[in-house]
Amino acid sequence: MNAMDIEIRKLHPAIGAEVRGLDLTRPLPEATRQAVHQAWMDNLILVFPDQDITDEQQIAFSRGFGDLEVHHQKIIRSTRAPEIFRVANVDDDGKMMRPGNPVVEQLAQARRWHTDSSFREVPSMGSVLRGVEVSRTGGQTCFINMYAVLDALPPALRNQVEGRRARHDFGYLHAFAKLKPLSAEERAAMPPVWQPMVRRHPVTGRKSLYISPIYNDQVEGMSESDATAFIEELATFAEQDRFVYRHRWETNDMVIWDNRCTMHLVTPHDPEERRIMHRTTIAGEEAVVAA
Ligand code: OGA
Ligand code: MN
Repeated sequence: MNAMDIEIRKLHPAIGAEVRGLDLTRPLPEATRQAVHQAWMDNLILVFPDQDITDEQQIAFSRGFGDLEVHHQKIIRSTRAPEIFRVANVDDDGKMMRPGNPVVEQLAQARRWHTDSSFREVPSMGSVLRGVEVSRTGGQTCFINMYAVLDALPPALRNQVEGRRARHDFGYLHAFAKLKPLSAEERAAMPPVWQPMVRRHPVTGRKSLYISPIYNDQVEGMSESDATAFIEELATFAEQDRFVYRHRWETNDMVIWDNRCTMHLVTPHDPEERRIMHRTTIAGEEAVVAA
């Protein structure tokens, strides 16, 4: 296999491409890895269909782009590989978890727009999600091109985000959704962080709007209620069809997205239907750069 053999097909005018012709059971030759990286930077998210691979192979593929995060909550991690973040309503032993279960309730918050690990001092570079058991009743993942959103922002909104910072707090997710409050230890592991609302991408050099509504509880110079209303207004502008690709999962699809210039959410599905997705999270390499 060489880099010339991969086929790339756009999925939406603003965001997303499908990549065929790759065998991810084996390490990628360096030229192919670079071609995939370039396609990723150009399209923001890539879909790799028909990747019947193991967790270890997913981990190895993801490591091709950077170090991996290990999620700070044990309840979310796979007991078999700590780098696997389980987006699932079935536990590691195959037992169905239903609404009311703390894992199910926390994962349900991904139905609102966010970007992964934005609550970290150095947020994630990207995430890789593989469909192990996909939903037929919903469970579609939607992605927004946040470069395009910034470019299209009406001047009144643009003026308000320029030079401003928003706070990202992992604990806000729990407070907002009235989940079981975090323990002192969980809070101490992830103190809130302030991040610029307009950031510059370290690879492409392009500017994007950087918000993560499930974690944003404060905006500089605003009361808390104005801040959350402002974040909602930005999210409502961002979720227009012209900026959004909706992925309808097939088993063994694997998707990689860039957390530095996109937001995503998952649509609801029948809680009695099993859904198992395995995520690896590529760590960021530098603090967010204001633009
Ligand atoms: C995630 C996430 C969406 C989904 O894995 O980070 O938000 O489709 N999941 O389950
Ligand atoms: Mn997510």
